[in-house]
Amino acid sequence: MTAAAPQPKTNMGQPVPRYDAVVKVTGRATYASDMPLSDPAYAFLVTSAIARGRIDSLDLDEARRVRGVIDIVTHENAPKLKDSKLFSNGGYAGTTIQPLKSADIAHDGQIIAVVVAETYESARDAANRVKVSYTATTPSATFDSPGTTIAAAKGQNAQFKEDPKVGDFAKAFDEAEVKLTASYETPTQHHNPMELFSTSCSWMGDELVIYEPSQFVYGLKYGVAEQLGIDADKVRVVNPYVGGGFGARGSMTPRTAIIAAIAKRLNRPVKLVPTRDQGFTITTHRAETRHEIKLGARPDGKLVALRHEGAEVSSRPDAYCVGGTKTTTRLYACPNVDSLVSIVRADRNTPGFMRSPPEVPYLFALESAMDELAVKLNMDPVELRRINDTTNEPIGGKPYTSRSLMACFDEAAKAFGWAERSPQPKSMSDGDWLIGYGCAATCYPAHMGPAAARVRLQRDGRTRVEIAGHEIGTGAYTVIAQTAAERLGVPLEKVAVFIGDSDLPPAPVAGGSNSTASTCSVVTMVCDQIRQRLFKAVMPGQSLTDKAKETVGIGQTPATQAATGDRPLDLEKAFDALGVGVVEEYGEWKPEGAPLDSFRAMHSGQVRLVGGHQMKDQIAYAFGAEFVEVRVNRFTHEIRCPRLVGAFAAGRIMNPRTARSQLMGGLIWGMSSALLEATEIDERNARYVNDNLADYLVPVNADVANVEVILLSEQDDRINPVGVKGVGELANVGTNAAICNAIYHATGQRIRKLPVRLENIEV
Ligand code: MOS
Repeated sequence: MTAAAPQPKTNMGQPVPRYDAVVKVTGRATYASDMPLSDPAYAFLVTSAIARGRIDSLDLDEARRVRGVIDIVTHENAPKLKDSKLFSNGGYAGTTIQPLKSADIAHDGQIIAVVVAETYESARDAANRVKVSYTATTPSATFDSPGTTIAAAKGQNAQFKEDPKVGDFAKAFDEAEVKLTASYETPTQHHNPMELFSTSCSWMGDELVIYEPSQFVYGLKYGVAEQLGIDADKVRVVNPYVGGGFGARGSMTPRTAIIAAIAKRLNRPVKLVPTRDQGFTITTHRAETRHEIKLGARPDGKLVALRHEGAEVSSRPDAYCVGGTKTTTRLYACPNVDSLVSIVRADRNTPGFMRSPPEVPYLFALESAMDELAVKLNMDPVELRRINDTTNEPIGGKPYTSRSLMACFDEAAKAFGWAERSPQPKSMSDGDWLIGYGCAATCYPAHMGPAAARVRLQRDGRTRVEIAGHEIGTGAYTVIAQTAAERLGVPLEKVAVFIGDSDLPPAPVAGGSNSTASTCSVVTMVCDQIRQRLFKAVMPGQSLTDKAKETVGIGQTPATQAATGDRPLDLEKAFDALGVGVVEEYGEWKPEGAPLDSFRAMHSGQVRLVGGHQMKDQIAYAFGAEFVEVRVNRFTHEIRCPRLVGAFAAGRIMNPRTARSQLMGGLIWGMSSALLEATEIDERNARYVNDNLADYLVPVNADVANVEVILLSEQDDRINPVGVKGVGELANVGTNAAICNAIYHATGQRIRKLPVRLENIEV
């Protein structure tokens, strides 16, 4: 086994190579904008140069004279579209700001015109010749900007249901022997998936096909149909490969319905490939956040009081927030907890999901504060986590389905060499470099959603699995193929997987790290339906239900199945008995505790994820522990991060190769979110300054020396039929705190605002 393909431990699948590896490395994977279209027209966007105000006039004469220009669509002649509701209010959209509807400008970089031409080059040339006169109003950019408003998230965001609290925080904090109050800040960030935010729309009569990178083909299908005012059965979304998602493609953006309507008007396919900088404002982003944490503890480290107050910036019309207090108030045992999340409205585009949306900013605050408390208590920060570890979350008292947090700390600490750390700040160095060790916990809710699948098995073992899941680079094809192969007892090479197409049975949004749990659960179930039919054929005398329960009962994970000695069926014999060449089954699965309308919602592009703290009698999270070494140059203050070590436990690991890859990427992104990434805003104009990949800093190989991912064995039979918790968003949580904790250890300077760059080091 190579490092890339870790040896599976108990309750782990095989580290088989990626199903889509060869097509990807040979360039044969077709991304949305690679899809061949018949005689397409090319669209190029014009976006606003002001953040607030209105368009007085547009001078299109010069643009129209560019050879090949077909049409220029502005608010004066745009096709009429229906408004879309925000996804959190039962709609599909990531923003309710609908461009081209009027002359009003609500944020920087809003779409104000679409030039359509015979070639991409003509469209771009003409777009650059569109002259716009604005009346600009002073915009409110961010926190502290004049003109912003602030109000509690509860009551304005339907998905933010509660500010968790328990006990009497004020009294307990007042009486606590050791107290900490600290404030933290995280910046605006942008996902920047490699694949741009393209869309291609093609009509055949009244039927529309959309080729677009999406994390939710059903949501996009229904959302665009709603905006166009047509039957959703007439809309199909196709994207067999998606060049990165990270949350940026989870909800519908306004571009799609606009391009679809223009294609209809022209009676010609239209292809849009926006530029990188346009991607910063025509989609979503991670909003900047602020936090105040109060911790009260006994001298032995036991928490007695915890308060987390968070604030997030959103747009004027939309009350988006991530509200990470649902996690931070439940991570450690504490009898007195209080919290509050507020939303600040500014003249910005609506933010949205970005990898581990709530946990990245909110655990930065909590896990930094825990480190600060450990310093106050003169305690090892690992031991502070241990003394506050718990099997039940403190708010509702519900038990964790499984929780291996301290096992992760112990494994990662050992691999890292934490014991060699001398606890005093500035006590370790190597020549010009101050050395710091830091650690933090990570956790991420284990989400699941209703899903459907169709599986077809031929007598020669060839298998076809159809499910409208999404391959956003995570390994979805691979783990779905593995699930079917394992469950049907056929060789992996015989399994073909079809995903990324809204004509296939519906699956949830590829978000919230639910995909593996949801898709593998339903594929397992449908494969079991096939097994039952075959079983019935070969053993007609036996009671199917009894036997089925014994061998393929829901709630039985593959590991327990193996333990009971279940054997794959003899396919030839079963097919002969059935007298058919193909067996096909369709099935719908929903997790325990899913709302009553789950299946209806699933068939209309609505998300009904459960998991995390939103389960009835239990709470389900994946856990991990991360240790980092930083080196700070005492003269130049350059910060390097030579080592990242993470240990993670997330129930059954379907494939250690793809899981490790996900977690490694997460650790690197976590480091990046601490040391590099920030979208800078010109506060006078509420405009992004570094809206490109040269100025928006992301790590390169030289920034990432050693990354070690340790996968822990964990068995969770209470969570879903496959016992999977999901790893997509686990590893980039807490890393930012671990880095700041290490910088404190290296320099004695506590930094509470991200990102940390050399100009922030004062020692
Ligand atoms: Mo993830 S931010 O839920 O795609």
